[in-house]
Amino acid sequence: MCGIVGYVGTRDAGDVLVKGLKRLEYRGYDSAGVAILNGEMSVQKGKGKVINLEKSLAANEIKGHIGIGHTRWATHGEPNDVNSHPHLSESGRIAVVHNGIIENYNSLKRKLTENGRTFHSQTDTEIIAQLIEEIYTGSDKITFEQAIQLTLKQIVGTYGLAIVNLDTPDKIYIARKGSPLLLGIGENEMFIASDASPIVEYTNKVVYLDDGEMAVVDANSYEVKTIDDVALTKEVHELAISLDAIEKAGYPHFMLKEIFEQPRSIADCLRGRINEKNGTIQLGGIAEVMDDLVNAKRIVIAACGTSWHSGLVGEYLFEHLAKTPVEVEYASEFRYRDPLIGEGDVMLVISQSGETADTLAALREAKARGAMVLGICNVVGSTISRETDAGVFTHAGPEIGVASTKAFTAQVVVLTMMALKLGIEKGHINKKQAKEYIRELAAIPDKVDQILKGCDDVTQDMAKLFTYAPNFLYLGRSYNFPVALEGALKLKEISYIHAEGYPAAEMKHGPIALIDEMMPVVVIAATDHTNDKMVSNIEEVKARKGRIISIMNSENSEVKDLSEFSISIPSTKDCFSPLLTVIPLQLLSYYIAVNRGCNVDQPRNLAKSVTVE
Ligand code: G6P
Repeated sequence: MCGIVGYVGTRDAGDVLVKGLKRLEYRGYDSAGVAILNGEMSVQKGKGKVINLEKSLAANEIKGHIGIGHTRWATHGEPNDVNSHPHLSESGRIAVVHNGIIENYNSLKRKLTENGRTFHSQTDTEIIAQLIEEIYTGSDKITFEQAIQLTLKQIVGTYGLAIVNLDTPDKIYIARKGSPLLLGIGENEMFIASDASPIVEYTNKVVYLDDGEMAVVDANSYEVKTIDDVALTKEVHELAISLDAIEKAGYPHFMLKEIFEQPRSIADCLRGRINEKNGTIQLGGIAEVMDDLVNAKRIVIAACGTSWHSGLVGEYLFEHLAKTPVEVEYASEFRYRDPLIGEGDVMLVISQSGETADTLAALREAKARGAMVLGICNVVGSTISRETDAGVFTHAGPEIGVASTKAFTAQVVVLTMMALKLGIEKGHINKKQAKEYIRELAAIPDKVDQILKGCDDVTQDMAKLFTYAPNFLYLGRSYNFPVALEGALKLKEISYIHAEGYPAAEMKHGPIALIDEMMPVVVIAATDHTNDKMVSNIEEVKARKGRIISIMNSENSEVKDLSEFSISIPSTKDCFSPLLTVIPLQLLSYYIAVNRGCNVDQPRNLAKSVTVE
């Protein structure tokens, strides 16, 4: 949700900012802009992609060594030139970029308007620039930094902010509450960004800002403090990601690259954690809380989007392998109920980005009520990973495509390892069984590779045939019910085709009314213990002339004969099946979206990291 960059140093600021904004574009892409200080405040901004901004910057020859930039995902005010960031104060001397939502902006705007200030945009951000200026120019005794602090105290809501002022032309001011910001430390230069991707090519030394903190940054130094002006000494972290990991490596889209990376990302997730020979699992991040986990009354999983789907797979895994009761909650619903959670419960939050606002709020709510809070995150250093009591990283590498693929499989792998570990610790899985499970889990990367090599062509053929289908239905049972949801979500997200995922048996209670010869029905018939039932459901669809696409275990001739298209996956244990069945569904959505001419990596209206409620 909105990306922020900042630069101060000796390079051309426009170049660094534009490059950084391109890397952050997955966070929001309806408009982009920069403010560069070069004796004056040069602002270039407008609706559309960063590439447009790049062209206009070059055409107008805007140069300078310090500046801030923004790529927007609209919350207040439609995406247009005026609503694009940066926003300026009345005098035009102060520029602000903002990620988040100012909840009391209406009342603040009213007051500022009464004081004679004119607003140009419909955004909540503009009031920040205006209010800072109002306070700053209101008294000789107030420094710019103090004016920012006083402004932040009047603001209700969330923000990641970067601010520049012509009066202090060598400094960038940043502040954070609820929206991520980090500072990259270079040699005689500093970088600011919403996540590490714009920084990684320049430096691997970073400082993460926490909520309620601000920093004053120039080319050679930075000072971090609370917004109440208490100086802080922050730890300098080393980034582990590489530049290769955030580039397309010859693939036409990040999404396709990320789909094909899965044999490696799953192997990376397993590496050093499973021991086939001994039948043991080691999860360093939760070792210290293992006793609490063993004694937990139940696990409540909270997440959003694709991560919620992996949470649903987790429910099947924990209940089957570890005999621990699980509830899976939409994080956004959990937080606004009066949730019954407390001591003895474990809250497990799952988030690729580690920044999703609703998931973070659910985590805080559970923590405040006394539950132990664990996390499964992909982004190291993210807010969720820092606020949980313990957790496991997925190590899938940066995921740039907005539709999640390799993060999903890595989350499921972590959940599988956690459930197995818990099952072993609780005595529900003996040594022999543990070895078998682990041997099979270790074989998953090769099986994913096999699927990718074997089904790429057939999914392309299927995609050609169904490119203009107006609707899709996805059906699955047991472990593959969440995969049906995930398959439908992938298609919706990137191809804008209406798709529904259902537990196969539930089809009879409504969706069956939709089935006719126009309706493609994707059935995931690869869970051995429910396959007979699945065959009956397929027959029900066929009887109504629905068009069957099946994902099935190899050698399931019954399902194959009933299907117009079928993709067979290598056999595995039922509980590992989602790791395989989801792969063809990711490819199918990808190729349909490409055929429809959709922007696969940046689907309309979506954002990768949703940092607003
Ligand atoms: C957004 C993304 C989804 C993602 C969801 C949760 O909607 O577009 O791909 O699944 O947020 O994100 P998280 O980072 O918490 O997993």
